[in-house]
Amino acid sequence: MPTRRATAQPKFQNAFLLRDAAANRGTAFSVQARATLGLQGLLPPAIETPDQQVARVMDNVRRQATDLDRYVYLSALRERNETLFYRTVLDHLGETLPLVYTPTVGQACQAFSRIFQAPRGLYITAQDRGRIREILRHWPQQQVRVIVVTDGSRILGLGDLGANGMGIPIGKLDLYVACGGVAPKACLPVMLDAGTDNTALREDPFYLGLRQPRLQSEAYDTLLAEFVAAVQEVYPGVLLQFEDFSNANAFALLHRYHHQLCCFNDDIQGTGAMGLAGLYSALRLTGEQLIEQQILFAGAGEAALGIATMVTAAMVAQGLSPEQARGHCWLMDSKGLVVAAREDLAEHKRPYAHAHAPLQGLQAAVAELRPSVLIGASGTPSLFSQPVLRELTRGTARPIVFALSNPTSKAECTAQQAYEWTDGQAIFASGSPFPPVTLGGRTLVPGQSNNAYIFPGMGLGILASGATHVSDAMFFAAAQALADQVSDTDLQCGRVFPGQERLRDVAAAVATRVAEVAFAQGLATCSRPADPGAAIKAMMYKPDYPPLPPD
Ligand code: NAI
Repeated sequence: MPTRRATAQPKFQNAFLLRDAAANRGTAFSVQARATLGLQGLLPPAIETPDQQVARVMDNVRRQATDLDRYVYLSALRERNETLFYRTVLDHLGETLPLVYTPTVGQACQAFSRIFQAPRGLYITAQDRGRIREILRHWPQQQVRVIVVTDGSRILGLGDLGANGMGIPIGKLDLYVACGGVAPKACLPVMLDAGTDNTALREDPFYLGLRQPRLQSEAYDTLLAEFVAAVQEVYPGVLLQFEDFSNANAFALLHRYHHQLCCFNDDIQGTGAMGLAGLYSALRLTGEQLIEQQILFAGAGEAALGIATMVTAAMVAQGLSPEQARGHCWLMDSKGLVVAAREDLAEHKRPYAHAHAPLQGLQAAVAELRPSVLIGASGTPSLFSQPVLRELTRGTARPIVFALSNPTSKAECTAQQAYEWTDGQAIFASGSPFPPVTLGGRTLVPGQSNNAYIFPGMGLGILASGATHVSDAMFFAAAQALADQVSDTDLQCGRVFPGQERLRDVAAAVATRVAEVAFAQGLATCSRPADPGAAIKAMMYKPDYPPLPPD
């Protein structure tokens, strides 16, 4: 009988390199690497540079039919070749940021169960009580330094999306890597699935989360307490970022845990710093002082309170008493103006409940209070109507208008509306991006008040200094660092935030100031380098292919 020719053992372990997103280089494996790693024949013959790979990815991105398709395509790339994904995002930040984060991430969360292809991050559910530590230990990476956690209860302005909200921690951590230069292996997205009160989701045959009403009160608090304790035990010193928790829980969690561990709430504190930075820049255009402003917030939730708190602190730093400073900030919620006489106010609104007659309707409030700044954080589209903005312009020559609600479908007004209805006088910024507007021969570029200008740098500064806690002074420093990054050229076209292509430089600048605060306040566990700015830049992750594994 003829004997079969002996064959070389296939190098299965090397073939798996192509399935390992952290190690895979795809067509960028060199001739020599293919030979030594046994990859010959497993890849098409062309050898490409990373830049050529990025060009193909962007060509594919642009050929997709919708932004959601682009999101799906890019997410699949991240699961195949992590380095190429981050390199693409970083090289084309202006184009990719709206795809991997707001506004597209809103659609992605709404469609999460349908577009789901591969798990990413950890899912911890109400049924895991008693074994959360064990589940955290299932995560294969040991070097986790940042956790972004949501319970999906208030995703952007879209409400309770249950486990579909996992798109948010994933997206935020993508920005930590691409903009903040935090290594991918240091990042852990977590969905804390406490159920959902969104009945349509519970009845959706494709829904991937727990099909039960949300845990409430004590049961919810117990789940959170176990999670936080487990995080501290399994990943001591980790930075925990709370993200898109519903209003009441967000304030309570921050209050309960901010002294206990290194944590912050981006929706409250990050938005606060971003909003204050936007105001500083806008005031460079008007030539006025912060303490001269009357600010009306449409919305009295996490975003509005976060900004009001930062603005108040900034006014106090400029010499006002806390009471005087709060007197410059007025809030409206869904039930009308927040005033002392109201008995239905949550505790966090009380400091801003001024003595005034109850008042309904935004236009009436604008007419009565004559604000110079109108900030929308209501999740209510079209709230800044033509009559509201006309009324605003009657009281102030150059109104500052921030329509922060996300995604785009929830914005209080569009850039076009803001400029048109104020005869081009508004200094406008929005949470979701809007294209430039040409009015009377002038092109106005709206700034995007994206928290991505703050949190990646916050995180990086905290990690670089080994801060044990996150202080208010760090957010204050972050706001000032961001405002300093806005150039005169930005301002000349009306933009009160830097261009998004500069996000990485902004993160480095924010991180440096944040780390300096940690060193100065005695919160750092690392010793201060001679040049913290240079040290921070040097430690930032770069999306270059990692060294090849030994043959
Ligand atoms: P939240 O749920 O804590 O607060 C919403 C507030 O709006 C509540 O006080 C509610 O009573 C009020 N409201 C609802 N309808 C209103 C109406 N017709 N008039 C006046 N107030 C009304 O939500 P959160 O976290 O404050 O977020 C609000 C919006 O801001 C969301 O769309 C979110 O995506 C967006 N946001 C934008 C950020 C940015 O631009 N970087 C950062 C954080 C939030």
